[in-house]
Amino acid sequence: MLDNTVSSKQAAEAKPPMRIAVLVSGGGTNLQAILDEVASGGITDVTIAVVISNNADAYALSRAKNAGVEALCIAPKAFADREAYNEALLGALQERKIELVVLAGFLVVIPPQVVAAYPNRIVNIHPSLIPSFCGKGYYGLKVHEAALSRGVKVTGATVHFVDEGTDTGPIILQKAVAVQTGDTPEILQRRVMEEAEWKLLPRAINLIAHGAVEVTDGCVRIIET
Ligand code: GAR
Repeated sequence: MLDNTVSSKQAAEAKPPMRIAVLVSGGGTNLQAILDEVASGGITDVTIAVVISNNADAYALSRAKNAGVEALCIAPKAFADREAYNEALLGALQERKIELVVLAGFLVVIPPQVVAAYPNRIVNIHPSLIPSFCGKGYYGLKVHEAALSRGVKVTGATVHFVDEGTDTGPIILQKAVAVQTGDTPEILQRRVMEEAEWKLLPRAINLIAHGAVEVTDGCVRIIET
């Protein structure tokens, strides 16, 4: 007779890995952190099915190819209008049976039809402690410039689910990073990446892949195992 432990383990093993798409626009250091964690076993039960960039020159696409992952460019300017681009992006995700969409430095507004198709199934990494320095116009280095201009002593990074707004979805994980005397936006950006972003985003993906992230009334609860 099968004992329960064995049969539940077999059931878990039988579940196919969660298919994720990583959307990028630039250098792709966050993508690299995800690829590395999948390779080293820090993220389990996940397949990176595709990396999609809006920009054909994004170095992130080379990182995907080097890791043997499909690298796709879907550029808004290649389409007659924004609606056609939006449909193409959604189609690419659906054709590949994507279950989780990861925005890793993706600088295009996520189409409403993609948000609607993936409720609490799109995650974004933002380089500040939301609700500070976020929303329209806050992306990349601009976030760190604003943090330094305001003179904050602590900044950080946030992983959140994506809803219809800009950086307004449920917060999954955050990590604080100290601002230091003499920081430039570039130095601060690098510290926030090293100390926070490259750890938080893989961790959030792994938690979601293992069903450990619950959303109630716009707030996330992590189920500790
Ligand atoms: C990262 O710092 C990410 O947090 C930021 O863009 C950078 C991409 O770097 N995203 C945003 O500002 C989104 N609002 P990467 O291409 O090296 O991962």
